[in-house]
Amino acid sequence: MKFQALHSDPLKTETPCLVVGVYENAEPGAVASALDAASGGVLRRLLASKDFSPKLGRTHMLIGAPGVQAQRVLLVGLGDPSKLDALKLQKAATDAGRVLNSGPFERASSTLSLEAINNRSPAWCARMVATATAWACYRYSATVKPKPETPLTQLDVFGGPDIQAALRQADAIAQGVFLARELGNLPPNICNPQYLAEIGLNLAKENACVRCEVLEREDMEKLGMGSLLAVSRGSANPPKLIVMHYQGSAAEKPYVLVGKGITFDTGGISLKEAGQMDEMKFDMCGAASVFGTIKALSVLKPKINVVGIAVAVENMPDGNSYRPGDVLTSMSGQTIEVLNTDAEGRLILCDALTYAERLEPQALIDIATLTGACVVALGKVPSGLMSKHDDLAAELLNAGDNAGDRAWRLPLWDDYSVLIDSPYADMANIGGKYGGAITAGMFLARFTDTQRWAHLDIAGTAWEDRGKGGATGRPVPLLMQYLLDRAG
Ligand code: BES
Ligand code: MN
Ligand code: ZN
Repeated sequence: MKFQALHSDPLKTETPCLVVGVYENAEPGAVASALDAASGGVLRRLLASKDFSPKLGRTHMLIGAPGVQAQRVLLVGLGDPSKLDALKLQKAATDAGRVLNSGPFERASSTLSLEAINNRSPAWCARMVATATAWACYRYSATVKPKPETPLTQLDVFGGPDIQAALRQADAIAQGVFLARELGNLPPNICNPQYLAEIGLNLAKENACVRCEVLEREDMEKLGMGSLLAVSRGSANPPKLIVMHYQGSAAEKPYVLVGKGITFDTGGISLKEAGQMDEMKFDMCGAASVFGTIKALSVLKPKINVVGIAVAVENMPDGNSYRPGDVLTSMSGQTIEVLNTDAEGRLILCDALTYAERLEPQALIDIATLTGACVVALGKVPSGLMSKHDDLAAELLNAGDNAGDRAWRLPLWDDYSVLIDSPYADMANIGGKYGGAITAGMFLARFTDTQRWAHLDIAGTAWEDRGKGGATGRPVPLLMQYLLDRAG
């Protein structure tokens, strides 16, 4: 979707559709009041008729309203004006975006960016309106014919001259989120480790600022990645470790992102039950968010160095599969007793995290659909954040708040460490009944001792329940915000 900044008077702007926010109040808002006055009371009569109630996210389309140049006006409820905050603006813009995408026009112009929000600049509002609209307009079409509708291809956003840069950021984030969603939604027979490797190589081919190397099974054998390789052994699709270098500044040490890319998680010999197993095609959404972030960086080109590592493996049962009881030797030299082959994410991540050490990261962040326990703990609202570094945790939480892509911190206290002790190895790959998101985090912590490291468990946030939106593209907005906050 193309974004364009508009500085004109909204009511005098020619557009197929003008988006106008309306408060649940005697004073419906600056643009709404002007619209009402110019149209001879159309809005007041509509509100009095109760055909439209401006509760947050409700919409109503006016066709040919007098006194405005726009062909249509899409009214969007903003609820109580004293309660409008960043997240509510995001919801209003998303709900409006869905209506815009279903209308018989390709371009719209939004004034939602003109609403004043506590502690948020007009540029921030413009970026949020743009990214939320693009998010709402995404349609998956790779393997199914799209409905015959006219998708929205351009959004004009009203604001001051300072929103230009914000809209460039929005464009980059939207493109990154789009890629992450598309990869997440693709079926596992198409989106396998080889396919993901080609995504990385293509990003490098198309962007001079991106370099990509793909480590093959033999390379991993040489590196001693016994844990990652064990998980991959049951699959006919060989594993790929996809390492993408985004270079935006001269010699600085990189920020390193490591994404779980299980292209399908059957559970392996500890086979999952059949219900909703199809959802385990989304088990590569951590890797998808790494591709999405590299894509966004390549569009925006900020002055920062970032290495994105996608760990692409399929977890299948087979005569050659790894088994419960196996003891694996990881690249770090630490041994791992496998108690459940369905706790595979941490087994591929630990070797990738050890590999990442050689890049001397300024910060090392892994992103993974790691545990059902994280969804039990936090639901599908925030991603789970774990780190032993309070400053890094605070930076990431803050980035999530600012990007409308929230995370919530869980502790990694030493008290939990005994839960993964094993009599047969340095550790076991599961920690028992309680605190499953945290024991998974504690497992990874044993491989990142020397690093400034954080872990994002996106099991609840990477996709929506069947019949809703599919892959969400989260946490690309959080990661981009974090990196932009650090860029020179
Ligand atoms: N990919 C799953 C985690 C998951 C499950 C994400 C459901 C989203 C929804 C992961 O590989 C897994 O299977 N984890 C197990 C760990 C258990 C065996 C300790 C889980 O969460 O049940
Ligand atoms: Mn699993
Ligand atoms: Zn998994």
